[in-house]
Amino acid sequence: MRLAKYLAQAGIASRRQAEEIIRMGRVKLNGLIVTELATRVNPKTDHIELDDRIVELQQHIYILLNKPPGYISAVNDPWGRPTVLELVKDINKRIYPVGRLDYDTEGLLLLTNDGEFTNLMIHPRYKIEKKYAACVAGKIENTALRTLQNGVYLEDGMTAPAQIHLLSRDDKSSRIELLIHEGRKRQVKRMCAAIGHPVISLKRVAFGFLTLKGVELGNYRYLQENEVHRLKALVLYDEI
Ligand code: URA
Repeated sequence: MRLAKYLAQAGIASRRQAEEIIRMGRVKLNGLIVTELATRVNPKTDHIELDDRIVELQQHIYILLNKPPGYISAVNDPWGRPTVLELVKDINKRIYPVGRLDYDTEGLLLLTNDGEFTNLMIHPRYKIEKKYAACVAGKIENTALRTLQNGVYLEDGMTAPAQIHLLSRDDKSSRIELLIHEGRKRQVKRMCAAIGHPVISLKRVAFGFLTLKGVELGNYRYLQENEVHRLKALVLYDEI
């Protein structure tokens, strides 16, 4: 890989800043200063230093958390509310959530220290499907379900077509499942409110092919290597 990419992946700086650092002559490759931006390195065998300190690649970790309501999807909260990081306290790496679930939303949330993976998973260009189970106020009629399915007008534009399944309904409330690939802020809540059925409770039950199977509320598990590859492949396949 290119030297600047290596430095960026090691968490030193962005790739552009890393190039600047290389140009300044602060980086040594196997004991010799390099200023050539096209320099390529082998992370397994090469010895890279910045200002005479060894630079090592971070080991990436990927966690699937079953987030309970009452936790904020952030690394810290100015109002002192509990963050999802408090649920993964025994991990000694600086991880952060991949996208977000609202404070009161529960369900599947990924956490990682891999910035490139995060970008792939949340970039609007890549349409990873997310499945939500929502309990909404009132008895939802078939016409309202069709509106959700075809697209709802929100203040930031029409929502893309979605797959909607009715799970149950009575006079007081209805339970529906929504499969969407956009990731706009508070999207499900805004979609349901727009058709006159505000969300009472919301849970993300799937992210791509990942589900909450085997992970109790408040618990987490590590993703397997092949799951990380499959998630990335979903995105690459989507691009073709
Ligand atoms: N849509 C919402 O409205 N809230 C979430 O937390 C996730 C999706």
